[in-house]
Amino acid sequence: MQVHTHIASLRAARVQAGRVALVPTMGNLHDGHVALMLEAAKHADTVIASIFVNRLQFGPAEDFDKYPRTFEADREKLATAGVAHLFAPDEATVYPQPQRYYVDPASGQTDILEGASRPGHFRGMATLVLKLFNIVAPDVALFGKKDYQQLMVLKNMVRELALPIAIVAQDTIRAADGLALSSRNGYLSATERAEAPRLYQQLTALANAVRNGASNHAELEAVALAELAHHGWQPDYLTVRRRTDLQPPQQPDEALVVLAAARLGATRLIDNIEI
Ligand code: PAF
Repeated sequence: MQVHTHIASLRAARVQAGRVALVPTMGNLHDGHVALMLEAAKHADTVIASIFVNRLQFGPAEDFDKYPRTFEADREKLATAGVAHLFAPDEATVYPQPQRYYVDPASGQTDILEGASRPGHFRGMATLVLKLFNIVAPDVALFGKKDYQQLMVLKNMVRELALPIAIVAQDTIRAADGLALSSRNGYLSATERAEAPRLYQQLTALANAVRNGASNHAELEAVALAELAHHGWQPDYLTVRRRTDLQPPQQPDEALVVLAAARLGATRLIDNIEI
């Protein structure tokens, strides 16, 4: 695997790469990322991964400084997963001057759910991803469904800006007890880690009730939120939405997803289940 820290080097390698699949990451890779790399290989001749902890998508009180940087371990995992090129730029390469041009996703996408809890997050995320798309020029890019709203914002960005890139969504990879794999799980204490699967359990219970015909979403959401709070969580939201735009459902036959974000101690976890 070749490691590129500069844009020119990555672009030179891209010329010979044929059909390219890009998997953007912030590093601290786990089995969910590895699954994305293996899936990416099915869609292209060459898999390019990126590692960049993007300051632009973190709020001032968020975990940018303590976000785990584990470059050597990440490099080994990517090489083992058959990734051909790793783009791992430093901040001065990605942002040689303060960023003045942004992708500004529509309100309605970014002021709900994660956007409401993390103002500016999607603007910073989409700006970086568009920049990576411009640097790598991939044919396809892969993202995990755990960040469901991120996926929606990026699909809309690609469509509305007519980018010639297919977006592939990968199902969430879970630990044996159901906890969605996430780099932030590493922040959990042993006690918190034992408690953490409750988020998935509450989502599962609600999803099953809706699958079985329950339409009292607000009541079910309130029960799940109370259950989390009772066990020491501070939930931001746990809510049934339609998959297309993450707005509250309007029609009985819409495809749905239940999404949650909640803080356990100092760690904020997110998860979702398509219904
Ligand atoms: O999902 C992530 O890890 C990040 O938001 C991404 C897409 C790599 C952009 O920084």
